[in-house]
Amino acid sequence: MFTYSTRDSLKSTLQKVRNQDKIIGFVPTMGALHEGHLSLVHRASEECDVVVVSIFVNPTQFNNQEDFLKYPNTLENDLKLLSQFPKVKVFVPSGDEVYPDEDSYEPIDLGQLDLVLEGKFRPGHFQGVVHVVRNLLQIVMPQRAYFGLKDFQQLAVIRRFSLMQDIETQIIPCETLRDVSGLALSSRNLRLSEKEKEDALIIHQTLLKIREWKLLHAPSMVKQMATDFFNQGVLKLEYLEIIDGNEFVNLHEEWTSNALCCIAAYCGEVRLIDNISC
Ligand code: PAF
Repeated sequence: MFTYSTRDSLKSTLQKVRNQDKIIGFVPTMGALHEGHLSLVHRASEECDVVVVSIFVNPTQFNNQEDFLKYPNTLENDLKLLSQFPKVKVFVPSGDEVYPDEDSYEPIDLGQLDLVLEGKFRPGHFQGVVHVVRNLLQIVMPQRAYFGLKDFQQLAVIRRFSLMQDIETQIIPCETLRDVSGLALSSRNLRLSEKEKEDALIIHQTLLKIREWKLLHAPSMVKQMATDFFNQGVLKLEYLEIIDGNEFVNLHEEWTSNALCCIAAYCGEVRLIDNISC
């Protein structure tokens, strides 16, 4: 398997790939890979000739320095996991490679997306995500880029950004993977004890309840019932919102066809997010 640490070395390899009219897929990650990431790599491998997987823990998207410092780093294992995919080229850049001196990025207006849910509770987070994704896309120039639906709002932000900037890369959403208990796979789960993993199941249980209650009650009522149900567990709720997944506005009286419930909560010190369409 080929690994690259500089933008120039990766770019020159990818130019040769492009010259042969081959399709380049891209899976950006922050490492600590799990089955969820691998499902993206698997899909990209099926749909593309060459798949670039980047591993870069992006400092600019952490609004909490401690969260950044504690982000799991399992590079050796990540490379081992990726070695099973013959089409993969791994990009493991330093900060200087991703953010060169001549970086011309200007923050973009994310509108409502920056004001609600993750945007509200993690100020600056999405600007950091857009900045790194933009810089990585400029290096890789893939035809297709794959993102998980667990970070639903991130996906919406990236779609908005790519529309605004006329980026030609196709943004491909991929289903959230869960373990057998229902816990959404996340690199942050590595920081949970066994007991905390059990405690965290309340997130998925609440999301499933919402789907049931939706059949009988208006969104505002379901939000109240779900919050009460969630608070029977030990996690500290940051937000539980029922929104329209296109407009990112809260639903009150009526359900829309694109309704989504999003939860963010602390399990001990670890912040977890999840969502379900309902
Ligand atoms: O979803 C992630 O892991 C990160 O936000 C991403 C897209 C790799 C950007 O750093």
